[in-house]
Formats: sequence, structure tokens, C-alpha cells
Amino acid sequence: MPKTIIVSNRLPVKVTKQDDAYQLSSSEGGLATGLGSIYKQDDNLWVGWPGLEIDRHDDQLSVTEQLKELSLMPVFLSQDEINQYYEGFSNEVLWPVFHYYASTYAHYAEANWECYQRVNQKFCDAILEVANPGDTIWVHDYQLILLPKLIRDARPDVSIGFFQHIPFPSDEMFRLIPWRSELLEGMLGADLIGFHTFDDVRHFLSAVQRLLPVQVSANIITSGERAIVIESFPMGIDDKKYGNLSQQPNVKIEAELIKETFKNQKLILSIDRLDYSKGILQRLHALEVLFEKHPELITKITLYMIVVPSRDQVPQYKELRDNIDKKVGNINARYRTLEWSPIQYFYKSFPIETLSALFSTADVCLITPMRDGMNLVSKEYVASRMHNDGVLILSEMAGASKELIDAIIVNPSNVQEVSRAIVKSINMPKAEQARRMVQMRQNVSKFNISHWVKIFMDRLSEVKQMQRSMQ
Ligand code: UDP
Ligand code: G6P
Repeated sequence: MPKTIIVSNRLPVKVTKQDDAYQLSSSEGGLATGLGSIYKQDDNLWVGWPGLEIDRHDDQLSVTEQLKELSLMPVFLSQDEINQYYEGFSNEVLWPVFHYYASTYAHYAEANWECYQRVNQKFCDAILEVANPGDTIWVHDYQLILLPKLIRDARPDVSIGFFQHIPFPSDEMFRLIPWRSELLEGMLGADLIGFHTFDDVRHFLSAVQRLLPVQVSANIITSGERAIVIESFPMGIDDKKYGNLSQQPNVKIEAELIKETFKNQKLILSIDRLDYSKGILQRLHALEVLFEKHPELITKITLYMIVVPSRDQVPQYKELRDNIDKKVGNINARYRTLEWSPIQYFYKSFPIETLSALFSTADVCLITPMRDGMNLVSKEYVASRMHNDGVLILSEMAGASKELIDAIIVNPSNVQEVSRAIVKSINMPKAEQARRMVQMRQNVSKFNISHWVKIFMDRLSEVKQMQRSMQ
């Protein structure tokens, strides 16, 4: 029976070491949380890195056993590989360039590129151990761009899908990367390549057209004898999980506590991984503008801001964290009163029950990334609003803004506009809140994660059939 092998850099569970024992907990980040809720169907297997260095062979064996029960297979990375492949190349070249931060943050080092190639080969070797003819291999995200070609060269008898969870930048940005052609060739090893939005598809096709000697016709690339299809598949979430969570008694109790704590204020929620692409500093600036223009709102609103630690060994992330600490400190010091602080800031991750209590309680969810492939947090807020109330303010730079068109859509660099959107959101009549939320909830429910997996997989089968009919 053919199976599907999902491959991503990070597994949906992460391993941490406490007192000589290895513990498993949920990973953060949209790829892991989104696919993590449904991958265990049939005989599926997920191959990826467990999130920390485990160098002793015995420990590797015991972690492998623990993960096997969850249908997960680890690829272990050495500390050098973590530094060079994960931090150095994936997160200091691909992440900044793909999010339009090439000139400020990209750091092109040949040694990191070499390591990136070696680690992609290491993932390929792991897959070859478990893949059989007829299996489907679904590769995810920018850390493994070379993998589709490596697998195809070794095993032309499998179906290969590739999905990129982050934006694909304009060709003008992408072509700055010294190894641009090799990256594109790596992706073209897949039969079907998916992105969140049509703009990403367009950018990818024009990069391929300009940089590689292949034929591009509409959304089909012909490389040698093989046709490769490029399409957008906006990722959804497990909407029912968030709806049900918000009805759980323990979550309701937590929600009541939050309501009581902030009973005289409008509660504005923001949740992001620590990342410069998330527009956290710009959002704080918008809050300053708001208090300057609307002093009557001092003590009337609270920003509940969760920043989940991420990539904290990469210098730009450390620097961002310091800058957020300073800015939050300044705003709180300037505006706080004895009983009230403008910002409740948390630099840690929370259990999903607490996130659910916050989602179902917050009057406003403020999501203002400078660039974001999709942004699942915005969809999780919508899915949690069982009473069709609450307001979503969403950056036009997030993939989700193409679907959640009933949010208040803002340009995240325009701090005046963001501050006006906050005023509008806290004054929005209930009827308008409901009208917008009902539309958004329908969208999130119809195009959920199961739908996403199904349409990607169905399309992949169609592409394979089309390739066979062309032979
Ligand atoms: N998240 C989490 N723990 C937290 C806060 C957030 O697991 O304490 C989850 C959040 O619910 C969402 C994911 O992390 O599912 C973030 O995904 P998103 O697409 O919004 O952004 P990404 O981090 O992938 O850039
Ligand atoms: C984004 C990326 C994922 C990544 C996640 C968390 O969602 O698209 O590939 O796993 O961020 O980042 P991390 O570096 O901790 O895996």
C-alpha cells in the first residue's frame, strides 16, 4: 500500500532535555501546528529534525523509539549543521531574502551553502531508507529546497510534491542570491510546487523563466521531458479544533478570568514568533501614535502581546528581542498608572488552551506582519469566535489577507493607518462585527486544513497522470 512521507526541517513535536530525560512537546510555527493536527492518517510518516542536538548514539536510539510511536522519524543534526544549514543558510539567507530583507540581513557565506547542500542530502538519504516505489513524498519549506531534485535523481518512481510556506519574492530580490539557479533546479525536481498565494506563483514563474533554460507556459514548466505544475494552495487550519477548544470547561474558566482582569478595558491581542518579518516594532510604534492622538484611550485599552521565542541564536533575532524589550519598557514607563499597563508582554510560548481562552476573549486581534507567507494565527482567532463577534486587524502583507477580506486590512508600515484601525475596531458596532466575522468564519471553515491537504494531493495525482499521458 503506497504511503505519504511528509518531510520538513522541523517535526511537529520538539524534543527537549530535562534532567537527563528527553521530553516531547508541540512545536511552534505554522507548518508544524497546521499539518501536525492531521498528518497521522493512514500509514503516513513524517521525517524531520527534532529541534536540538542529540549526539550520543544511545540517546538517538531512544528518541527514535519515542518518536516512532507518533509516526515520526528523526533526522539528527550536529551542532555545526544547526549553525550552518539551519541558522546560517536557511535563516540568514533564504528567510531574509524571501521576506524582502536581503539588503539589511542576508549574509552569503559559501561554507553555509555547502553545509545546506550536505544536510539536504542527509534528508534525502533518510527518505531513501523508507520510501518504496509508488509512495508520495511531500517536501515542505525553504530549508529543504534542494531535496525534490535529490530524491528524483535517486528515485524517479515516486511522486514528489513541494510546498513553500513562506513568500516567494519578486525576481529582483531572488536573483541576488549567489546560488539562485541551483535553488530553482532543486525545487523543479518536484511534480507539483505549491505556494500560499497567486503572487508567490507569479514571482516563482518569472524567476524560473529568467534564470533557467526551461519552457514556461501558463503555470506549467517543461524541463526536459517532464511537466511540472505550479499553483497556489492557501493553507487552512483545523477550524473545528479551535471552535471546540473554546467550549471546553477549563478554557471557559480561563477565559472568564481574563475577562474579569480586563473588565474595564478593550483587550487587543497579538501573537507572533519572534521575527523581524512580523512587524512587532512597527506595531508598538502604532500604539504610541494612538496614545499621542487619543489620550482619552489611556487606561481604556490593553495590548496583550505574546512573542514566542524563535531562532534566538541568530544575531538579528537577539537584537530584535532587545529592541522589543526596550520599546515595551518605554511605552509602559511613559503611560502606565498604578492600576494599569498599556502592554502585557510575554516572551514565551503558551499551551493551546490558554491561546484559545485569549482568542475567544480578545475584543481585537492585531496581526501586522511586514511579510508573511500565510499567518495562521489570524485564522485561529476567527475560528475561535463562536459568537461571531470580535474584530481582526490584518496586514495586507500576510497571505491570509487575500482570503480574510472582511478583516480591517492595513498597510503595516503606515503606523497612522494602523492606529486609526485600532480606534475603528474598538468602536465597531456589534452588527458590523458579526457581518464581517460570519463571512470570515465561513471561509476558514470551508477552506480548512483537510481541504488543503486533499486539494494538494488530488492535484499531485492529476499531474502524475498528465505526465504519463505525455510519455
Ligand atoms: N503558537 C504556538 N504557541 C504559542 C503561540 C503560538 O504554538 O505560544 C502557534 C500559533 O497558534 C500558530 C503558529 O504558532 O499556529 C504560528 O503560525 P503562523 O502561521 O501564524 O506564523 P509562523 O510562526 O509560521 O511564521
Ligand atoms: C515558519 C516556517 C517553518 C518553521 C517555523 C518556525 O512557519 O515556515 O518552516 O518551522 O516558521 O521556525 P523554526 O525556525 O523554529 O522552525
